[in-house]
Amino acid sequence: MTATETPIIERGNVDSTPRPPAIIVDQLTKRFGDFTAVDHVSFTVPRGSIFGFLGPNGAGKTTTLGVMLGLIPATSGTARILNFDIHTQLPEALERTGAMVEKPALYPYMSGRDNLRLWAYLAGIDDETRVERALAEVDLTQRADAKFGSYSTGMKQRLGIATALLRDPELVILDEPTNGLDPAGQREIRALIRRLVRDGRTVILSSHLLYEVQEICTDVAIINHGKMIASGKMADVLNTRDSIEIRVDRPDDALPFLQQIPNVEDVALVDGLMVVTVDSSHTGPINRKLVEAGFDVTELRPRQRRLEDEFLTLTGTAKPEGSPDDSD
Ligand SMILES: Nc1ncnc2c1ncn2[C@@H]1O[C@H](COP(=O)(O)OP(=O)(O)O)[C@@H](O)[C@H]1O
Ligand SMILES: [Mg+2]
Repeated sequence: MTATETPIIERGNVDSTPRPPAIIVDQLTKRFGDFTAVDHVSFTVPRGSIFGFLGPNGAGKTTTLGVMLGLIPATSGTARILNFDIHTQLPEALERTGAMVEKPALYPYMSGRDNLRLWAYLAGIDDETRVERALAEVDLTQRADAKFGSYSTGMKQRLGIATALLRDPELVILDEPTNGLDPAGQREIRALIRRLVRDGRTVILSSHLLYEVQEICTDVAIINHGKMIASGKMADVLNTRDSIEIRVDRPDDALPFLQQIPNVEDVALVDGLMVVTVDSSHTGPINRKLVEAGFDVTELRPRQRRLEDEFLTLTGTAKPEGSPDDSD
């Protein structure tokens, strides 16, 4: 490795040259004995994205993140973090990355601030302003002198995230950060993640909660049984099948009418609304046919296929909702 091979890329860089993705994972594989926990996983995390790493419990999310961070040796494959190869340039990658993959050890009898000071000391960070900055970023300045043991679950989790922010990292990797939190605590974490990205960072958020990923992520990778199922821009992963929603005055008559139109793949009546699966280029002609046949069309719009449907179709998981985590 030479210094010339490892360009230092800073946040806020206004250089016109396109910057490499925050992360490129390439055919990463991890076997535990005969069991393949991560099976040739590849995905790319664009700079400045909130990247959802979505999969049911046991899918291989933590193992993948652990391998990327050098906590678990890879069986094969590689990854580049901020353009540094994890096999040959891990220290350079980790210097610019903040991660919370396992719950950090924090002392209940010490204040939040003193816990962070200790972390900073152990990490060799002697800049006291970093502790204060991290406290502010997780919105704990007001409660920094209270004992960690007196914190709510959400506050404890936020202080854990603060440990990952001490180095002012470009990239933040959070493994299921909302696990065990009530809806208010989950919202606070989402607000925190949005702030981190607004400040120019890239955030990876692993989750088994669809609604969470749907709500804040710009990009997504779905993993199940150690295998990559889909990845890309959220909108692309959402819109894998075109359909339109149509509201008409006589839905029971419109249903058989629509079914006999060529190009219409499927029609379903959902709460009085027709959901018509058809290439979006046929939207206009379908509208015209309905009107010509005497139907009163009051609403017609493209339907975003919910990631939840996608997730269910792709993983076959029967437990899509935010069911409490029972593993990890
Ligand atoms: N050290 C290990 N030894 C053997 N199997 C493991 C080990 N760590 C994880 N696994 C298995 O690998 C699979 C993926 O686990 P994990 O990465 O923790 O999934 P997730 O984080 O998506 O819930 C699970 O079946 C888990 O039991
Ligand atoms: Mg996990």
